[in-house]
Amino acid sequence: MALPTETVYGLAADACDDVAVTKIFSAKGRPTDHPLIVHIPSSDYLDHWATDISPAARLLAEHCWPGPLTMLLKKSAQTSYVVTGGLDTIGLRVPSHPLFLQVLSQLKTGLAAPSANRYKQLSPTSAQQVIDGLDGRIAAVLDGGQCEYGLESTIVDMTHEVPRILRAGPLSREYLEHILGQTVEMPLMHNAVVPGNVSAHYQPRTPLRLLTRDELDDYVKQEQVSARIGLMVYSRQLVSDFNAAGFTLGTVLQLPDDPAAYGHQLFGSLHLLDQQEMDTLLVEKPPVDEAWSAVNDRLKRAAG
Ligand code: TXA
Ligand code: MG
Repeated sequence: MALPTETVYGLAADACDDVAVTKIFSAKGRPTDHPLIVHIPSSDYLDHWATDISPAARLLAEHCWPGPLTMLLKKSAQTSYVVTGGLDTIGLRVPSHPLFLQVLSQLKTGLAAPSANRYKQLSPTSAQQVIDGLDGRIAAVLDGGQCEYGLESTIVDMTHEVPRILRAGPLSREYLEHILGQTVEMPLMHNAVVPGNVSAHYQPRTPLRLLTRDELDDYVKQEQVSARIGLMVYSRQLVSDFNAAGFTLGTVLQLPDDPAAYGHQLFGSLHLLDQQEMDTLLVEKPPVDEAWSAVNDRLKRAAG
């Protein structure tokens, strides 16, 4: 069953039930060695699922949960390898969406939940997007409205001395360093150290190209722009400049130039453009800046 979280919708099953967890993999079409995040009702459940938990990890749990942070920890003996995809580590988080929390606190268990989309496709930020992608493959979706953040949780590996961000998300490196009072590593583009971290991911069906403002200018000057092209930009002047130059564009989406607000709209906008059956989607490349890292990570993968 799909449930809303504050990040994206998740496809949830009892993490103690290997058969139920296996159904998640088949509904998504996801390889079974790609580990799932387990959602727990509160940090009181940490020791059931994980072991060798450092004081730093407990500090993050205390400050960031419920919220958009997933911590990688060493899995406990009773945690099934089915949910960890055969790994000795487990991703844990306490989500903050009231509906998800209510289900968790009534079940008093862990719920494995990857994003509720087919393998490699766009993550859903509304119940309708879940249905669009998984109708016929899942039992139900609980409609909790639009997701608050719209981007998946920040994943931080807490199994080493120095914490390391494996997936950029709503909580920044700066924020985690502030809480921990210690350096947190963040590779520019995290290379595939785990199954599931694939470079082609979050993909719309329509081919997507990521172009700088200059490259977009060149593109329209070569008069390749037509009604069959969807455009997504964040620079304020860009669309009016293109219109003033007399170019006929297809669907144009103006996104905010603030990274958090942009992130909130990212998947919804890509879903919308993808439904227009365009030939190509052109996306203005955001600044290469840490504040934009979560957005840039998703866009690079969407462009494949
Ligand atoms: O915000 C989120 O994290 C959402 C909501 C539903 O909670 N979930 C989510 O799950 O994004 P998913 O499965 O789509 O992405 C989880 C990522 C995958 O890339 C997976 O490889 C990685 O986390 N992951 C999970 N457990 C891991 C582990 N033990 N070691 C390394 N990577 C892990
Ligand atoms: Mg996902």
